[in-house]
Amino acid sequence: MRLVHGVKEMQTISRGLREGGRKVGFVPTMGYLHDGHLSLIRLARGMCDTLVVSVFVNPTQFGPSEDFARYPRDLERDKRLCESEGTDILFAPETSDMYPEDFSTYVVEEKLSLPLCGRSRPTHFRGVTTVVAKLFNIVQPTFAVFGQKDAQQAFVIKRMVRDLNFDVEIIVAPIVREKDGLAMSSRNRYLSPKERKEATAIFRALSRVRQMVQEGERRALPLIKVIRDEIVRTETGQLDYAEIVDTKTLSPVEVIDDDVLVAVAAWFGDARLIDNIIIRKDEL
Ligand code: PAF
Repeated sequence: MRLVHGVKEMQTISRGLREGGRKVGFVPTMGYLHDGHLSLIRLARGMCDTLVVSVFVNPTQFGPSEDFARYPRDLERDKRLCESEGTDILFAPETSDMYPEDFSTYVVEEKLSLPLCGRSRPTHFRGVTTVVAKLFNIVQPTFAVFGQKDAQQAFVIKRMVRDLNFDVEIIVAPIVREKDGLAMSSRNRYLSPKERKEATAIFRALSRVRQMVQEGERRALPLIKVIRDEIVRTETGQLDYAEIVDTKTLSPVEVIDDDVLVAVAAWFGDARLIDNIIIRKDEL
């Protein structure tokens, strides 16, 4: 495995790969890899000639009072994990190389990034679309793999790719969960033992929603109430939002009669956790 830090060096390698007709798979990450990331890496590994993984804690997607400074970082560990999963190139750029001092160009998606997490994190998706656009320009991948846990991020990136004609296929891989259902996330390490235990309320609530829909409930309000109640019942959890939205527009629905995303964000202590399920029309 080759470790590349320089943006220019990575771009030169990418040009060579494209000219050589290689199918380049790309998994962008912020590092501190867990089994969720490894599942994306494995999926990509099986589909490409050359596998590039990036590790970059992107400052522009964190708000001023968010956890950028304390976001977990361990490049040595990430290196070992990437190598053991058959990564060809680990791209770990420096912040100063990605964002020179007078950096002033951003990519903004103006619809799908507004609701849900966009409401509580107003500059987050601007940072995500900007860094992903930059990474696509640097790595020039044939396809890129993102996780379903960040469902809104995946929708926003797909929209950006379509609207700006990036020549990259976007693949979305299923959520990987701990044994008790908690979605894997680098932020889970912020949880105290009590918060960690109580955070399972999120997936319990989502599972209950799916079950109620299977039993015939179609109205969004009682389903959202189930999520609220489940989180309120904990001592350490605080709901940020629970919404049922159309998967094409991310607008709230009153009655489920098509594919919907059931999305939750909740604080447990200092950790803001997100999770979701998709309910398909053919399950109704
Ligand atoms: O999902 C993430 O880890 C990040 O948002 C991404 C896509 C790597 C951009 O920084």
